[in-house]
Amino acid sequence: MNLRLPRLGEFGFTFLASCLIIVSVKAAAGPHDDAIKARQALMRLYDFNVGILSDMAKEKVEYDAAAASDAAANLLAAVSMKQGAIWPMGSDSETDGNRENRALPTIWTTYPKIMEPSKAMHSAAVAMDAAAGDGLQSLQGAIRDVSKSCSGCHDDYRAERK
Ligand code: HEC
Repeated sequence: MNLRLPRLGEFGFTFLASCLIIVSVKAAAGPHDDAIKARQALMRLYDFNVGILSDMAKEKVEYDAAAASDAAANLLAAVSMKQGAIWPMGSDSETDGNRENRALPTIWTTYPKIMEPSKAMHSAAVAMDAAAGDGLQSLQGAIRDVSKSCSGCHDDYRAERK
């Protein structure tokens, strides 16, 4: 059988491919994309620094007072950022048009309740900042409250992974 395919030629193919790319980029763009990306990046920063501290606490990595102090100071700086602009109303995971995210609408419908776990995290980070450079046992004593403060908020305000 002789299939007759339309001949696109190189230009036609490139043109079609560009249209497809433009269409897919357009479909992905939502009004709160930058805010969503920024808050996810901030959470990644929390996670990176908590990871350094918890690896030392679990003795997976040798305790290093300077590295532990730096990670704790960075965690405290990150959790101290003003966050109003990165959690705009309507940027939750259930509103159509938003890029993929896991923020539950209850963040906004029960506001300011979410400030409670947020404050708990801040206090835990302050305690960690004081403890981290002061020896392994001191770091181990402070890590639990930090991890608990993260999961405390995720349990109530973050959707399960799809
Ligand atoms: C006050 C509530 C709250 C606290 C406290 C909190 N988180 Fe989150 N976290 C969230 C929410 C809500 C999301 C989902 C955000 C989204 O998808 O836009 C999230 C998402 C994340 C993600 C996924 C980010 C991504 O790339 O999608 C990581 C990792 C994370 N948090 C780590 C942490 C760590 C570590 C801590 C503790 C130091 C912490 N979080 C404390 C509410 C919180």
